[in-house]
Amino acid sequence: MSKDSLTITDNRTGRTYELPIQEGTIRAIDLRQIKVSAQDFGLMTYDPAFTNTASCKSRITFIDGDKGVLNYRGYPIEQLAEQSNYLETAYLILHGELPSKAQYDAWVYNITHHTIVHENIKELMGGFRYDAHPMGMLLSTVGALSTFYPDATNIRDRKSRRDQIFRLIAKMPTLAAFAHRHSVGMPYAYPDNDLSYCGNFLQMMFKMTEVKYRVDKVLERALEVLFILHADHEQNCSTSAMRGVGSSEVDPYSAIAAAIAALYGPLHGGANEQVLRMLNEIGSKDHIPAFIKEVKTSGGEVRLMGFGHRVYKNYDPRATIIKRMADQVFEVTGRNPLLDIALELERIALEDDYFVKRRLYPNVDFYSGLIYQAMGFPVNMFPVLFAIPRTAGWLAQWEEMLEDKDQRIARPRQVYLGAERRDYVPLAARSS
Ligand code: CMC
Repeated sequence: MSKDSLTITDNRTGRTYELPIQEGTIRAIDLRQIKVSAQDFGLMTYDPAFTNTASCKSRITFIDGDKGVLNYRGYPIEQLAEQSNYLETAYLILHGELPSKAQYDAWVYNITHHTIVHENIKELMGGFRYDAHPMGMLLSTVGALSTFYPDATNIRDRKSRRDQIFRLIAKMPTLAAFAHRHSVGMPYAYPDNDLSYCGNFLQMMFKMTEVKYRVDKVLERALEVLFILHADHEQNCSTSAMRGVGSSEVDPYSAIAAAIAALYGPLHGGANEQVLRMLNEIGSKDHIPAFIKEVKTSGGEVRLMGFGHRVYKNYDPRATIIKRMADQVFEVTGRNPLLDIALELERIALEDDYFVKRRLYPNVDFYSGLIYQAMGFPVNMFPVLFAIPRTAGWLAQWEEMLEDKDQRIARPRQVYLGAERRDYVPLAARSS
């Protein structure tokens, strides 16, 4: 008998099956042969929220949640945060290797020269209410981009895919900044091709009447690091949405709109916004014990936002980097007064049995919001600041899915527990 196999005995029938084990998994479809009769559909796995199901094979991002390790294409996140910039990291994630000088220059040139959006997009954005959430605006306008680029439906054509990748990575900051300026009633600032990806985004967000916006180097670098940290995170909720929706072979703008919608939720990319709201509600360090008590006794209703992770059962390595960087940013912007509450909240939580037992540690969102707020970003822009860099990860995962011969349209099974077949009763004949 092969050693790399799993022997299963079905106690209903007494029959034994041997299933191959490959890369630490069995194929769920191999269970289908396990039947009690010829008419039986066969055994399935039941895995709500996919807590123990690998939906794909991937070569992009590696996470060891117990050890707090995160690597993109094998490179540790700490090294990339220290030495790379966002566009180089995006290239790495999408292509699998770091670029040569020539490849890097061409990549930056192509992204830089796709930053402008069609003027009609501006009109579309003008239709939103003055207080529209920028994430809602972003997801709608990214979806609308599919109608501007009908060639994007050629998803099997590599050259076409390249064009959409340039466009999406390039236009995301423009759309994000436009969404913000719409909500504050300011004229849109057009891209400035002399600036870096992050410098240009800061310019489009914050430029007032000055002829040339002066980019603060510390803030520009901080944004590069934050964008690197958010560039990919393997099969999370929004990436699964990207892959799932993309598996229908729809264009990437529509699939990214779905991924942005998934990221919008408070348990995913909306968490950094919720952290700030939570810190404001707590208001002062004296109120922390009462808040912690509320979290512990609420039966999961009230959560300590920015804590806990499906994969990390240790300190999220991204949170460590962000926490270290906060001081550099605060030297330029002034200290965010909420930091003291956050530090004390973390200290108390990490000593509390409830959090220790459940292995709940600060995640990427716990400190990122404090930095974004100090930099001048309004709270409702936080999830948008997550969506911009994650675009590279979504696109890399989408391309990998398209090129993977194992993949087909995503279509999970269900365990049906509803009514048995029954006959329709006309309305007049139904009892109340
Ligand atoms: N505060 C209080 N209790 C928590 C928290 C929290 N933040 N997170 C998990 N728990 C408890 C939960 O109530 C449960 O307790 P019990 O076993 O008694 O029922 C236990 O810990 C396990 O929680 P879970 O909900 O089964 O864990 P999950 O893996 O399904 O959820 C999570 C992961 C991130 C959704 C969750 O930890 C959470 O809601 N955190 C707060 C929101 C947040 O910060 N999200 C950002 C995630 S990182 C960025 C990203 O990838 O989007």
